[in-house]
Amino acid sequence: AATLKEAAEASGRFMGTAIADGRLGDPTYTGIASSEFSSVTAENVMKWEAIQPQRGQFNLDPANRLMDFAAANAQQVWGHTLVWHSQLPGWVSNGGFGAEELDGIVQDHISTVVGEYAGEIAYWDVVNEAFNDDGSLRQSVFLNTLGEGYIADAFRYAEAADPSAKLCINDYSTEHTNAKSDALYEVVSGLLDEGVPIDCVGFQMHLILDQYSASDIQSNLQRFADLGVEVVITELDVRMDMPSDETKLASQATQYADVVGACVAVNGCAGVTIWGFGDADSWVPGTFPGQGAALPWDENYQPKPAYDGILRGF
Ligand code: XIL
Repeated sequence: AATLKEAAEASGRFMGTAIADGRLGDPTYTGIASSEFSSVTAENVMKWEAIQPQRGQFNLDPANRLMDFAAANAQQVWGHTLVWHSQLPGWVSNGGFGAEELDGIVQDHISTVVGEYAGEIAYWDVVNEAFNDDGSLRQSVFLNTLGEGYIADAFRYAEAADPSAKLCINDYSTEHTNAKSDALYEVVSGLLDEGVPIDCVGFQMHLILDQYSASDIQSNLQRFADLGVEVVITELDVRMDMPSDETKLASQATQYADVVGACVAVNGCAGVTIWGFGDADSWVPGTFPGQGAALPWDENYQPKPAYDGILRGF
């Protein structure tokens, strides 16, 4: 295949990238973003702090820029994200609301944002990062005020606002079989048993070089798919200790190929999104000091071995 999206399409899947709003003016950036990907996710502009920074004030212009970019390039849009403890404005996290008021705030946020783009967004990350690594539910204003029912309610509110969008729960460090993915599995099973409208499970897959088992990732994705939900790789990157070298970049290519291959081996795996495509734009160096080079294009938007790795994986 000539591009990542064509390779993905040949296996009946989508290939996505996160899009940084601040980069949409650069033709090198938009050229790759439009030609190589069939799906786009807003890296930040649809998060709560960005889209409802003050109560009742919705800042839709940046999100609309992404929608316009996607429409111009016939791309699917992945909505990210509705209910998340992080990048949550202080008026929500420190508002001191009681359960009834906070429930109304969550419902209004979801109804407004999902409703705004109803029919135009293929998938929504409805609940993001709800779990701790030990499998317990993460403390947040949502859990602490509303109890664990906030998860089911968020899906119900999203379904009411856009019955056509596929609704996902998304998390990190859940790609392997472990305490966290076991807990996620139990929660998803329970939601399905209760008739909660959940369609998909997103696996972020912010991976570290050489720390993975392709066979375990595949069997873990498969057990979720066997529940009848779609599974998706939503935020893939593979970071390494800097500086990078040829050996590390070759291992990274293998890792990208193996992870994409795990998706391809699972019928219910709908696609793969990488968390940006060029190392110059990656969140990794800012979040994990000393690490970087996590994406398939380098700092100058030249394809790395990982690019061919993704092609191989499909
Ligand atoms: C990151 C963005 O890439 C950064 O630009 C931002 O400063 C912080 O968030 N899990 C998620 C994503 O679900 O939203 C995060 O994105 C990365 C981890």
